[in-house]
Amino acid sequence: MFIAIEGIDGSGKSTQAKNIAKRLEAKGHKVYLTFEPTDMRIGKMIRSILGGKEKADEKVIAALFAADRLDHLLHETEGILKKLAEGYTVITDRYYFSSYAYHGAHVDIDWVIDSNKMAAQTLKPDVNIFVDVSPEVAMKRINANRESIEIYETLDNLKVVQSKYFQAFEKLKNKEHIVFVNGDETPEKVTELLWEVLQNENLI
Ligand code: TYD
Repeated sequence: MFIAIEGIDGSGKSTQAKNIAKRLEAKGHKVYLTFEPTDMRIGKMIRSILGGKEKADEKVIAALFAADRLDHLLHETEGILKKLAEGYTVITDRYYFSSYAYHGAHVDIDWVIDSNKMAAQTLKPDVNIFVDVSPEVAMKRINANRESIEIYETLDNLKVVQSKYFQAFEKLKNKEHIVFVNGDETPEKVTELLWEVLQNENLI
């Protein structure tokens, strides 16, 4: 099983990914929890750009994410395909919908979708779960929790990214399995909602 968790910055999706991984493990699943940008070579380059240490054109950033994603899938020992073949349930904190939302804000969204076609053809999530939080709540959480704010973490940008997520979901609703949970609830409640989704979808 391959689950992608999506959301704007400050949505709490990383905490949720961890909570769901723990619950699945408690039920006896072998779980591989992973994330994008990765901590592999291309992911490191991306983080240095997002942190403001290096500059790159938005198109270059979008292309780096597409390449990082292929590395994430295809890496010989650490790749998602390899982990699935070894019997793991894989949960990824962000996948290609993050690219559609974040880069669709700067470059043509169809180009972003096209440049991720190889990943989409290689492996579609059994479910894309969107932790749906209002940008205002997300911005409050970011300001309260973070030591350094990344280049995309402003209220205006969160609003744009959220609307791009919805645009991408609308475009791809017939090709992708997408489920929404209300991320404005408490973390415990959101975990419950996510767990219900997995049960209702007969994924666990
Ligand atoms: P995030 O999940 O917030 O990681 P962390 O908790 O380590 O900061 O992801 C980092 C940023 O990367 C986030 O602002 C969204 C951005 N991003 C893209 O712009 N495109 C992508 O394809 C992905 C996966 C992430």
